[in-house]
Amino acid sequence: MDVEVVGKFLSTLPEDDDHPYRTGPWRPQTTEWRADNLTVVEGEIPADLDGIYLRNTENPLHPALKFYHPFEGDGMLQIVGFRDGKAFYRNRFVRTEAFEAEQEAGGSLWPGIAEPLSLAKADHGWGARTMLKDASSTDVVVHRGNALTSFYQCGDLYRVDPYSGETKGKEDWNGGFPYACGVSAHPKVDERTGEMLFFNYSKKAPYMHYGVVDKNNDLVHYVDVPLPGPRLPHDMAFTRNYAILNDFPLFWEPELLERDLHVARLHREMPSRFAVIPRRGGSSGGQERSDRGIGVGEVMWFEADPTFVLHFTNAYEDGDEIVLDGFYQGEPEPGDDGTGTKWQRAFRFLALDRMQTRLHRWRFNLRTGETREEPLSENISEFGMINATYGGEPYRYAYAATGKPGWFLFDGLIRHDVVTGNEEHISFGEGVYGSETAMAPRVGSRGEDDGYLVTLTTDMNADASYCLVFDAARITDGPVCKLQLPERISSGTHSTWVAGSEVRRWRETDSAAQAVGL
Ligand SMILES: [Fe+2]
Repeated sequence: MDVEVVGKFLSTLPEDDDHPYRTGPWRPQTTEWRADNLTVVEGEIPADLDGIYLRNTENPLHPALKFYHPFEGDGMLQIVGFRDGKAFYRNRFVRTEAFEAEQEAGGSLWPGIAEPLSLAKADHGWGARTMLKDASSTDVVVHRGNALTSFYQCGDLYRVDPYSGETKGKEDWNGGFPYACGVSAHPKVDERTGEMLFFNYSKKAPYMHYGVVDKNNDLVHYVDVPLPGPRLPHDMAFTRNYAILNDFPLFWEPELLERDLHVARLHREMPSRFAVIPRRGGSSGGQERSDRGIGVGEVMWFEADPTFVLHFTNAYEDGDEIVLDGFYQGEPEPGDDGTGTKWQRAFRFLALDRMQTRLHRWRFNLRTGETREEPLSENISEFGMINATYGGEPYRYAYAATGKPGWFLFDGLIRHDVVTGNEEHISFGEGVYGSETAMAPRVGSRGEDDGYLVTLTTDMNADASYCLVFDAARITDGPVCKLQLPERISSGTHSTWVAGSEVRRWRETDSAAQAVGL
């Protein structure tokens, strides 16, 4: 392994820190690395694994003003690239405007989600709550050969070079970026069309917008999606013809909001609502009638059992129905049952077992307006990934994380077969935690699960981190290879995979127009 330190940062976190989401498996890194020819500890790097795994996650350098919430640290990208049986690693902080300002100040400037707005030391901020730090730390996707990092409370999108991890600035969509509301985490790239679908949300009416950026990077569609009040949507889904947004009954308590207090509560008497929107529809002008009897331009709302969903795996069309799969929370508002440490009690809503997250299916009938729903699994899992070339299409496999009971830590992996209900499960082992596991289709892939699963581990036993690669069809065989990273990285969450051919397509042409075949 050829290793070079390319950046060193000063952490102002306390020496005797006892916050479990800044220590132990969540200990942040302060060093940025460039490592080539990663050492193979076990197995062999498959020659037909070609592309880049990217993971975003909070990696705080400074203490919060008062109370640190693990969604508020600085964003750090982890990158592992594969080609010709070799692999490289990079990790870089996302250089957001807020990150640079806090580096300059030497400490935190913005109050977190659990802190009062009055603590702010800056005159402007980001996020649906307002006055949050935009660390662009939540999610990462790749669109047009660029990695785009995002923030769950809505912020700017930062363009990052997927090879080097270097931040190239804010994405502006050729001048169309909706800076007033920003963009939520989990924009969706449709690999079939090259479009990116997104939403944002805020405390101001209409409370949500939906938009489409086309393969030329132009904002070609942006419409209001009026809601009854401020909501906290986190993810969306799409099919070939529709986008699916949501209005769940877990939202900031309106009476407290009037006093600028942001306390999310489950309103158990209210249904979940799903908006099915024609991908270029939703605007007030779109009243044309379709042969299904529903306006092709209209937002169609469907009601379902009350719950909250952090993440969806996929959606597709099946006759008159839209099929949507995601992780239903049996208990979106887990009570303080007095068990566990003070930290476990404070962050009980991050533990998958406390939220009872299970893969679930909703069917929305476009003809009758009815919803049917059913659980797809008895087992608790979340952070499900699919072969992204099946995004918006009928699919069979979702690869999801299992959680260490009581904690926000991924202790294993489940391969869900959503057609047969079959599940295969592996544990990473005591003291070993994984990241969201991306699916990497093999070069020349001939089927949905013909590829690899890639994840990064935080191994507390070895005080080290590894990149694990599994055969997606045979996870119980164990990893086909295990690669050493330069140092132990923080446990983490959202990731993506981009094929090498896709990144090179954007590098090796003279113009963006050529890359999209114009
Ligand atoms: Fe998320």
